[in-house]
Amino acid sequence: MAKFPDNFVWGAAAASYQIEGAAYQDGRGQSVWDMYCRKPGMVWNGHTGDVACDHYNRYAEDVGLMKQLGLQAYRLSVAWPRIQPSGVGAPDERGLDFYDRLVDALLAAGITPWVTLFHWDFPLDLYHRGGWLNRDSADWFADYATHVVTRLSDRVKHWMTLNEPQVYIGAGHHEGRHAPGDQLAFKEVLLAGHHTLLAHGKSVQAIRASTKQPCRIGYAPVALSKMPLDPSSPADVAAARAKMFSISSQTAWTNTWWMDPVFLGQYPEDGLKFFGKDAPAVKPGDLETMSQPLDFCGVNIYQGQYVRAGKDGAPEEVPMPVGARLTAFDWYVTPDAMYWGPKYLHERYGKPIVITENGISSRDWVALDGKVHDEQRIDFTQRHLQEAARAIADGVPLETYFHWSFIDNFEWAHGYKHRFGMIFCDYEKGGARTIKESGHWYAKVIASNGESVG
Ligand code: FCB
Repeated sequence: MAKFPDNFVWGAAAASYQIEGAAYQDGRGQSVWDMYCRKPGMVWNGHTGDVACDHYNRYAEDVGLMKQLGLQAYRLSVAWPRIQPSGVGAPDERGLDFYDRLVDALLAAGITPWVTLFHWDFPLDLYHRGGWLNRDSADWFADYATHVVTRLSDRVKHWMTLNEPQVYIGAGHHEGRHAPGDQLAFKEVLLAGHHTLLAHGKSVQAIRASTKQPCRIGYAPVALSKMPLDPSSPADVAAARAKMFSISSQTAWTNTWWMDPVFLGQYPEDGLKFFGKDAPAVKPGDLETMSQPLDFCGVNIYQGQYVRAGKDGAPEEVPMPVGARLTAFDWYVTPDAMYWGPKYLHERYGKPIVITENGISSRDWVALDGKVHDEQRIDFTQRHLQEAARAIADGVPLETYFHWSFIDNFEWAHGYKHRFGMIFCDYEKGGARTIKESGHWYAKVIASNGESVG
């Protein structure tokens, strides 16, 4: 029987650009995603986030649905261009007012808001001023953070700075398959990365300086999890750990490049060596700025890779076997990533772990009986939660779980093709919402504090 601590927190997550819509309402500025969606061929079927789930206008209904699920916490993100339409300068009160209303509605429903400051909607005007390549981006971001925290921190006590730098820097600035769609030289990619890590640190300072009450601050990178092929083999366990924390190719898809500076105050040595002249010039004080004390290590976990100790003991990634379970996104279903990922991360960084995202894309629709039978989401989530419980039983302080997502939404370059929600959004029918079977199931999980996970 799965056992979760009494103070375990059950939540779900979403992000501004993916659900809000209202792209031209109340003075909102443009972001790199608004621009990217208009580049021909970049987003599946030319979809955009212009309307999305229209959460901006339907937030009260959505909070009501969250309450029906029994959510204890909701992870939302703030759209920087709503707060400062051009990315800098005086805040637009209308933007702040929206998050005020949302936070108030959540609290009235007994749901704790966890706020992410940046989930990829970077102001377009600042992109035109160099974006993350401009070292000033760290100060722009800290200034924006100050406005948000000054307004919301009388009620908000949980903050996350950046969501998945691997993705918006790697996929966005290196591979060009996310906004802003650049394919920069690797040296510039790492420079943009250096500035975003500075932005993280400066925003932590800004939160601590402007919060109206004690708060908890974290960060939400992707955890690229590795699992031992044979968990009973100490050599495989060591090999998976080594692989999870090593850098051996020219890519932004690593854990340590983004987490070591933040949690340990240094770039990883193997990365510095491997990246060589491409590594950013570190100015005095930069690493101190990046490594502000944090209260938790937030991580998004979707899938992991198996690793074994090769003949000479060196870690080797093992291809998935023929027939292995795949989601609609073609991501492998590897529930033990939810055990090993948090375990290795806690060992290395010593922080409590918050699962800031975990979920599955499946091909859902409303059946003739009016229900959405998303059995795969139930099974996926059940398996992952069982592994979370196993990690907790083995002493990993895994405190909170946010399911991605509470509602179907705009899945970036894949548009509305992918459905990740526990609530179905019927875009064809004006965005009508239906709680999926997984939502009803999750409500029972929450009500039993995880016991029903089995
Ligand atoms: C993560 C993103 C999130 C969502 C999920 C499916 O990489 O943080 O916005 O798109 O993937």
